[in-house]
Amino acid sequence: MPALHVASLALTNPGDGVLTVTPIYPPFLSVARHTGRIAQQAALAPPQAPGDDWRLDLGALEAAITPETRLLLWCQPHNPTGRVWRDDELSGLAELVVRHDLYVVSDELHCDLLLDQGARHRPLAAAFPELLARTITLWAPSKTFNLAGLSTACTVIADPALRQRFQAATKGLLPECNVLGLTAAEAAYGAGEPWRQALLETLRGHRQRLVEQVAQWPGVSMSAPESTYLAWLDMRDAGLGDTPQKALLEQAGVALSDGADFGYPGFVRLNFGTTATQLDAALERMDTLLKSG
Ligand SMILES: Cc1ncc(COP(=O)(O)O)c(C=O)c1O
Repeated sequence: MPALHVASLALTNPGDGVLTVTPIYPPFLSVARHTGRIAQQAALAPPQAPGDDWRLDLGALEAAITPETRLLLWCQPHNPTGRVWRDDELSGLAELVVRHDLYVVSDELHCDLLLDQGARHRPLAAAFPELLARTITLWAPSKTFNLAGLSTACTVIADPALRQRFQAATKGLLPECNVLGLTAAEAAYGAGEPWRQALLETLRGHRQRLVEQVAQWPGVSMSAPESTYLAWLDMRDAGLGDTPQKALLEQAGVALSDGADFGYPGFVRLNFGTTATQLDAALERMDTLLKSG
């Protein structure tokens, strides 16, 4: 997240527009405000039928772009929907970015958590060479290997001039890398692949358990995430009132993330990066509450 803020400071001026698509990991929504820029948002297209995915709405994205827009804060794989964007979505995005002369910060933090067998992550800037000189790519071992506490992440900037601007903007704001985080990252990437494969197997099982469970809940829908350990549930018709997150916390003792923070009241985000026992316990309590009404 510090890198998104530094990018906003380095690549835009006060009064410029910083655009993102919603729903989105909540801190994205504050980057513009924290850095004195104008927050701009475009909604994704929601699923049209059960089993459909959230899709990138290129028309909505273009409509949100103004002459002030300078920077797109992009997220792939996407938090909170777990989407892995398809080529037609990304090529449309690339075309818009070039045509409107935008910079992109592509937050690819969840890139090692593609759940489908054989799925391979393609960084945005690698897939679209025309974006290379205008893109800052971010990732980290923090999600995959549960190392967030060590505050170590990677920023990849292919264009030397862009890299220099970013680096200059970090001065006095970002600490130097800490040796504990670097050592942990080296161990994770160097020796952690068997562990990551086991993790993916566990997460696939959890996703399946969740899909089967949600299908039984009246008024609740979810597109199965293709990546991450996050699931994005539409609970507007679940009979839990305007803030299902609060009802689930108070009446079922299950703490999910409130969709309102992502720009979507009535939705919740469930984190299934936990043990099967814990997930079962949470889903059973939710099941009791959701079927009691
Ligand atoms: C997409 C995304 N970006 C950034 C972050 C936060 O990353 P960091 O702790 O490295 O600032 C998260 C954490 O959940 C995330 O999901």
